[in-house]
Amino acid sequence: AAAPLVDPFGRAISYLRVSVTDRCDFRCVYCMAEDMTFLPKRDVLSLEELDRLCSAFIARGTRRLRLTGGEPLVRKDIMTLVRSLSRHLQTGALDELTLTTNGSQLARYAAELKDAGVERINVSLDTLDPDRFKAITRWGDFNKVMAGIDAAQAAGIHVKLNAVALKGVNEDEIETMIRFAHGRGMDITLIETMPLGDIDGDRTDQYLPLSVVRARLMDRFTMTDDAHKTGGPARYVRVAETGGRLGFITPMTHNFCESCNRVRVTCTGTLYMCLGQDDAADLRKPLRASESDEALNAAIEEAISRKPKGHDFIIDRRTARPAVARHMSVTGG
Ligand code: GTP
Ligand code: 5AD
Ligand code: SF4
Repeated sequence: AAAPLVDPFGRAISYLRVSVTDRCDFRCVYCMAEDMTFLPKRDVLSLEELDRLCSAFIARGTRRLRLTGGEPLVRKDIMTLVRSLSRHLQTGALDELTLTTNGSQLARYAAELKDAGVERINVSLDTLDPDRFKAITRWGDFNKVMAGIDAAQAAGIHVKLNAVALKGVNEDEIETMIRFAHGRGMDITLIETMPLGDIDGDRTDQYLPLSVVRARLMDRFTMTDDAHKTGGPARYVRVAETGGRLGFITPMTHNFCESCNRVRVTCTGTLYMCLGQDDAADLRKPLRASESDEALNAAIEEAISRKPKGHDFIIDRRTARPAVARHMSVTGG
């Protein structure tokens, strides 16, 4: 296997997140404004181009690949890309091919995903209350997501739930969600909201530090540190009362950038070296300029040599602007 790309801080880049579309069938209040302008189709990489891009990273030592969006399963013919990329699982070049999804299309795709070698998926779910779900996603259908989770589990895919902790929105439900996930044999991770892109409303109102949530949960649960590692930023505990695993993703209160192993590509072929920074490299140009990967590889190497030490997130009412102007749906988390 190829030696992984290494950044200036000695971090091996072995994990790639690829946003296959900026579009989404929901409009989660902390993620998007209701009225979003999506990219024109000509700017978006074709499935063949996405495949070539992913494969170039895999040839340079990427071991885990996660498709994100927007919502990855609303991309037309997405299974063509998934099935094609799964060849790298077969050759052993890739350890894992996964997705982060809102679950809305999962009932339709679960069996095919499993068939293509997807063993694990992360489903974003912030509430178990259908009305509240509608309020958070603006028009999402809770029952469809539940059916999607059922289908994924029935297909033998391990499901992890992701819940963004939102003050005054779902903080009263966090314990219930943990019990629900663990009762169904799923891991769950809680996430701090990050200041990415303009939304309708004030992020300071929604921000809930997970240090606070964790302290509250200690009254209800016995939590012991768990060594579980997915290659992601979550730190896990085992909950004695449920037997399940609970993760905390804390970009705001506990920085995990020093062990970062990842970069991300948008659906237009822009490489972002960090979720919380604006530094980027255009990979679409070298990709489209030549059939050979030479220029593409050079652009990737140059970009990795500029990977910043960490993100710039602050949630501060005074600045009134998000730390990073682009939405999460551009970079895919
Ligand atoms: P696994 O650990 O493989 O299950 O995946 P993950 O938790 O890394 O991926 P997922 O797509 O489920 O992401 C969950 C949350 O973690 C999202 O809100 C991401 O934005 C956040 N996240 C993932 N990687 C990073 C990162 O490098 N920096 C920051 N600040 N947040 C990240
Ligand atoms: N801060 C934190 N998490 C976010 N997500 C979307 N927007 C934000 C934000 N501003 C989450 C989604 C999904 C994951 C990919 O990112 O809920 O679980
Ligand atoms: Fe769509 Fe995910 Fe953003 Fe919600 S968080 S609007 S599901 S991209």
